Amino acid sequence: MISELIAVAFAALSLRAIISMNSFSGYNKAPMFGDYEAQRHWQEVTVNLPAKQWYTNGTRNDLQYWGLDYPPLTAYHSYLVGRTAELVNSSYVELDTSRGIETRQHKSFMRLTVLAADAFVYIPAMIILAICMELTFRRTNANRRQLFVLLAIYPGQVLIDNGHFQYNNISLGLAALAIAAILYNKHYVAAFAFTLALNYKQMELYHALPFFAYLLSSTLSHKSFRSFAIELAGIASIVLGLFAILWFPWLGSLDATLQVLHRLFPIGRGVFEDKVANFWCSFNVVYKLKNHISNDQMAIICLGTTLLAVLPTNIHLFFRRSKHTFLLALFNTAAAFFLFSFQVHEKSILLVSLPAICLFPWWPREMVWFLEVSVFSMIPLLRRDNLLVPTIALMIIFHFAFKCRYFQVNKKMEDEKNLLNSIIKISESLMVSILVGFLTIEPTARLPDIWPLIISVISCGHICVFLVWGYIQQFSNLSLNLK
Ligand SMILES: *[C@@H]1O[C@H](CO)[C@@H](O)[C@H](O)[C@H]1NC(C)=O
Ligand SMILES: *[C@@H]1O[C@H](CO)[C@@H](O)[C@H](O)[C@H]1NC(C)=O
Repeated sequence: MISELIAVAFAALSLRAIISMNSFSGYNKAPMFGDYEAQRHWQEVTVNLPAKQWYTNGTRNDLQYWGLDYPPLTAYHSYLVGRTAELVNSSYVELDTSRGIETRQHKSFMRLTVLAADAFVYIPAMIILAICMELTFRRTNANRRQLFVLLAIYPGQVLIDNGHFQYNNISLGLAALAIAAILYNKHYVAAFAFTLALNYKQMELYHALPFFAYLLSSTLSHKSFRSFAIELAGIASIVLGLFAILWFPWLGSLDATLQVLHRLFPIGRGVFEDKVANFWCSFNVVYKLKNHISNDQMAIICLGTTLLAVLPTNIHLFFRRSKHTFLLALFNTAAAFFLFSFQVHEKSILLVSLPAICLFPWWPREMVWFLEVSVFSMIPLLRRDNLLVPTIALMIIFHFAFKCRYFQVNKKMEDEKNLLNSIIKISESLMVSILVGFLTIEPTARLPDIWPLIISVISCGHICVFLVWGYIQQFSNLSLNLK
């Protein structure tokens, strides 16, 4: 059994290595380049400046050029990679003069650092999650090999990390460890891993409420006050202690702390930048938000609607705590944040995909469909990075690995759900047709962004349906019986 997991792990790493050979975000696009340069620039800044200056504008740190806008753990990771870069070739991280470097050797170095994160964080975390899923939900046929294959070859994460260039593998890996710890009743470990995830990328806030509701509800359910107090104090000191350690360089002054927070939550950047498959970008088609509502007002509207969309699922989790409800609440909360919150990026859909994969044992067909939609929603971004060929190749591999293989085995189930099958077929045909249109039909000069817009609106419609679906599953009796 263990040899199967190892085989899948190495296959998944090979797949990533192959995708690494392709282009990346901002390649050859001076003067700003893209995410690849952003990550390199953070190595340059963290290696050359004291921690206090990492998040502040100054003569040696121009925040308008890819200023650091992720929490401290990302900065420390950049520092570590930057020190390694210095050993390899110090020209990679020289202050200012290294900007825009993208030689073959440098690309190879950068790609290797992502693969290292895959090998040492993401893949092991996924193995642990798959094993904990199987141990917890044996009765519902959660199968560790199947889950691990899905987690390891899900094209969205591979394309964004090893193609576009980011390190979502670290934050998602830490979040997956936290989920696994919840399933395995290790609440201190869950608090520890999740706090690390949150300190790597603030987008992990999409996952925060279900962890909070689950852990609070669990501590409150202790019979004696003493054990309640011990567990609550334990979790609180882990979370606060970790925050204090990671934020130590800035905690000395209020201004410095506020400056870091300001970098992490830049209200000034507007409700969305590129076309993204969320509610506001679709709504913007019929009602131009920027002409009517100021940024600050918009931020409050986003906060209100997001809270409205996430509170019921988390309150339900709090009162009806079960591990199955936890996974559903995680999916619903992440989807609601993606649809309604402020400053959403296309890549944030990966945060919804992680809980979606965890729901696979109960709803295989629905969740594979969701994962396809999630990759579809990122197609404009992937096309900008010249990654369409790897995208299509990975989707074909994914499709065959899961749809054909898994559903053939479960023929009986297939007959039961004919309506759903037809809906999925229609949706998939629609997505393929739009993709073909996007590739073959030139947009008119009047509507240059028409294809990305169509892709965003169609994906947004799908994600809204999935959010309603998730709510129905969580609140219906069916889901209670399934736990
Ligand atoms: C930040 O510093 C750079 C140069 O050091 C300067 O050009 C820029 O205007 C500054 N930006 C802000 C917002 O102060
Ligand atoms: C270091 O990188 C620079 C380009 O950034 C290259 O010109 C130089 O040859 C490299 N040095 C070594 C020792 O590889």
